[in-house]
Amino acid sequence: MLIFLIGFMGSGKSTLGKQLAKKLNYQLIDQDSYIEKKTGISVGNYFSSNGEEAFRKLEHESLIELSKLENAVISTGGGAPCFYNNIEIMNNSGISIYLKLKPEILFSRLKYAQNERPLIKGKTEEELFGFIKTKLSERESFYLKAKHVIESMDLKSEDLFQLVKYHGLN
Ligand code: S3P
Repeated sequence: MLIFLIGFMGSGKSTLGKQLAKKLNYQLIDQDSYIEKKTGISVGNYFSSNGEEAFRKLEHESLIELSKLENAVISTGGGAPCFYNNIEIMNNSGISIYLKLKPEILFSRLKYAQNERPLIKGKTEEELFGFIKTKLSERESFYLKAKHVIESMDLKSEDLFQLVKYHGLN
């Protein structure tokens, strides 16, 4: 079984992914870290040297590789489901779960975590909130293609574990 956690930056994919993987006794793979291992540079540096388009290509290629795994939880990059046929790849190879959060909550989390994220680095609070609202509404139709959509405010990894268990584990 392969589980893809998808959602906007700051939606808790990595944190919840780690906890869920532990409960399932699966490996956790963070897609950005996977890409960083392959390229040898950080996503931020890759973006600034090669641009977003090149990053999206790399992200797509990495997803094809990751979709061949078994017994893993993949915390995907926030933009991953919105480019190429990535969301279809996820849905054809495993269970995708959209961790859905309101822009206000994403903002409160992301304002302290901008530096390592090239798309929001250096934005003022006002710019950041505007960016989150606009991008989220652009991306929502892709995110909503996930097999499961779950409001992730106060979401516990146990809730995710139960969802995954109920939908076909073991
Ligand atoms: C991105 C999200 C980031 C990372 C890259 C682009 C996006 O991942 O892939 O900076 O387009 O939303 P996280 O969602 O893990 O921050």
